[in-house]
Amino acid sequence: MPTQALSSARSNQSINYRSLIEPDRIHGSLYTSEAVFQEEMQKIFYRGWAFVGHDSEIPAIGDYITRVIGLEPLIMLRDRDNQVRVFSNRCMHRGNKLCSQDSGNKRALVCDYHGWSFSLDGELKSVPYPAGFDKDKALLSLRGPARVESYQGFVFATFNPDACSLDQHLGKAKSLIDRVVMLSPNGRIHLNAGWVRHKFFANWKMLPENDTDGYHAGHVHSSFLRVFRSQYDVIRNKEEERLSQIVDWGDGHTAIDAAPVYTRPFEWLGTAESKVADYTRLMNEAYGEHKARQMLIDGPPHAVVFPNLFLAEMSIVMFQPISAGESVQWHTPLILDGAPDSFTARVIRQSEGALGPSAFLLADDQVISERQQLALQGHSEWLDLSRGLSREVERDGVIRSHISDETSNRGFWRHYLKVMEG
Ligand code: FES
Ligand SMILES: [Fe+2]
Repeated sequence: MPTQALSSARSNQSINYRSLIEPDRIHGSLYTSEAVFQEEMQKIFYRGWAFVGHDSEIPAIGDYITRVIGLEPLIMLRDRDNQVRVFSNRCMHRGNKLCSQDSGNKRALVCDYHGWSFSLDGELKSVPYPAGFDKDKALLSLRGPARVESYQGFVFATFNPDACSLDQHLGKAKSLIDRVVMLSPNGRIHLNAGWVRHKFFANWKMLPENDTDGYHAGHVHSSFLRVFRSQYDVIRNKEEERLSQIVDWGDGHTAIDAAPVYTRPFEWLGTAESKVADYTRLMNEAYGEHKARQMLIDGPPHAVVFPNLFLAEMSIVMFQPISAGESVQWHTPLILDGAPDSFTARVIRQSEGALGPSAFLLADDQVISERQQLALQGHSEWLDLSRGLSREVERDGVIRSHISDETSNRGFWRHYLKVMEG
């Protein structure tokens, strides 16, 4: 870290992020400093909006899931009025974790330690041996994020009562989420196939950065590409032959757009229309043949919604920071409501093939992130992000460039700087 920024981090003054982030380079200490990490938790994950879960994960009253936003453990549940609620996963008595399972169904939240019981809307209902307890129970309702809002079933929360609206936070990323749900003939998705978690010994920011980095794919994943027929155009050797694009959607949201490469439906799924005729018919009925065909050519988005959601084609991914040098990536298949079972089975295989425990892509990326983290641990240097700066094209606030350009990473850091400067 540059001397001035480092001394301010040590003396507890706020860190000078402008001295660490420039338009074409960033400082490596942003991945290794615990002081930076702690500020990110406050400024990005608590003061801003973060993705918590999808409402399809808690379909029935009393259903709950547990999540972590920043470092804060949360419970997302469906209350008796059918409302999605998010609480800190912490008893108001002496702080025991209220729900220890990943998911389940409860009539009330009863603490394992001394047996305090909270209703599904967070009110403290009863304490054992009540004669010795005089306090007003209304003061001890469960706490949690100040605001919870959802878009197309994707639930987001912020601890900041004065945060911008979710609508503003998502900005142009709403069109990416729309593209996801419209792959369902009913316009609805389910995230109910279970989550796989991978621990990375790497800073959390390396995950969103890598996921919309189009430069590395042909190199890092070359062994994968030699074995499998890939739908991506990384196999083209010549730079000018590659048609995919990198996109900075603004507000930290970034994408790889492979749609320009595809000429017929389902190339993104590695199959042909004739093999998924039932699903195609349902999509034609739902959206009309013309629109459905275009959607089925373009396929799903490959886009990061700042800070912790990745619309990963036929998977949905979350990033969970643990410390400056550790993070967890969660992923689950994107299940399309109303799609035939045979199509859903393909989606699950596709998700496993990309990110599953025995898949190549995630393992390759994980190794690279961890090596990067190790290499930055000592005397951190400036890291170059200049690639493609002179050939980007901006239109209506969206910046596009060649697939190999660092436009997405620059977009991420530009927004990061804005957030970290408050
Ligand atoms: S800590 Fe929960 S009841 Fe005591
Ligand atoms: Fe990769």
